[in-house]
Amino acid sequence: MKILLTEPIPGKALEMLSSQHEIVVGDRGEFDDETRLYEAIEPFDALLCCLSNPVTGRVIQKGKKLKIISTYAAGYNNIDIATAKKRGIPVAHTPGVLTNATADCAFSLLLSLIRNLREAEDALRRGKFDGWHPFLFRGMELHGKKAGIYGMGRIGLAFARRAAGFGMSILYHNRKRLDPETERALQAKYVPTLNELVSESDVLSIHVPLTSETHHAINAGRIAMMKSHSVIINTARGPVIDEKALAVALHEKRIGGAGLDVFEFEPEIEQKLLTAPNCVLLPHIGSATVETRDKMSELAASAILICLEGKPPESIPNLLQL
Ligand code: DGY
Repeated sequence: MKILLTEPIPGKALEMLSSQHEIVVGDRGEFDDETRLYEAIEPFDALLCCLSNPVTGRVIQKGKKLKIISTYAAGYNNIDIATAKKRGIPVAHTPGVLTNATADCAFSLLLSLIRNLREAEDALRRGKFDGWHPFLFRGMELHGKKAGIYGMGRIGLAFARRAAGFGMSILYHNRKRLDPETERALQAKYVPTLNELVSESDVLSIHVPLTSETHHAINAGRIAMMKSHSVIINTARGPVIDEKALAVALHEKRIGGAGLDVFEFEPEIEQKLLTAPNCVLLPHIGSATVETRDKMSELAASAILICLEGKPPESIPNLLQL
């Protein structure tokens, strides 16, 4: 059968798929263009896509032969799930294998932000280090502070464990409460409203998927509820934050800062964020470890192989529940 892999990915996917099927591999970024994907999709039985590919309703409708869509990501907001469901096309993703990598990245952003690591290193490289002094790059300490976790799925939980290890207390807001045992082990306090979470936290870390409910959940009103020293970390999806409102708050120093790995209009970055002094910005590298990207590759490819063997979608372990 024919498989479209929208761009080269690391790991074993190509080897696994091409040993049994015909595979076409796009160029880097080629299928970030929806029209290009729409024009190409028709002959393919399976699509292995990335989060930057707009797998819209019309792409899915045009893919008459499509038997599966497998995305090389945990997040799937780039795929029109409703149309896939209507057409009975299973969608697979790669949850679980990027939990630690993403939580590590969120924590790295946090430490870098609150200890001014970027500015301090930059100053040193520019020859500005003229010896130790008591006022040099004082930051915020984590011990004893409150980590507010918005979205307590796998990655939120992994972030909470790291925060607890640094002596922080844990607050969280999620659709579902954790089981009492996990809550107890982390001494995590469930907060029933997002407003409460935002206003109580010293560190607000975002781990929710992007949905119509979470889009701009962190907006001007909620940013205004934050304490003036509090910081926001986002390794989930950019549009959960109203980026313009965040940029204004950062420039006016109304909050302590932001550490962002994801952006509202990737790869475009809001100009005012680029010039904000109190933020650390990364190019969406949350899951970018060799180990994780290899596991994602295997998981994404095996879902396609299972499906093209004619097995029922329920036998795909990483099937998205539509
Ligand atoms: C995902 O898998 O959703 C991540 O954003 C990829 O880094």
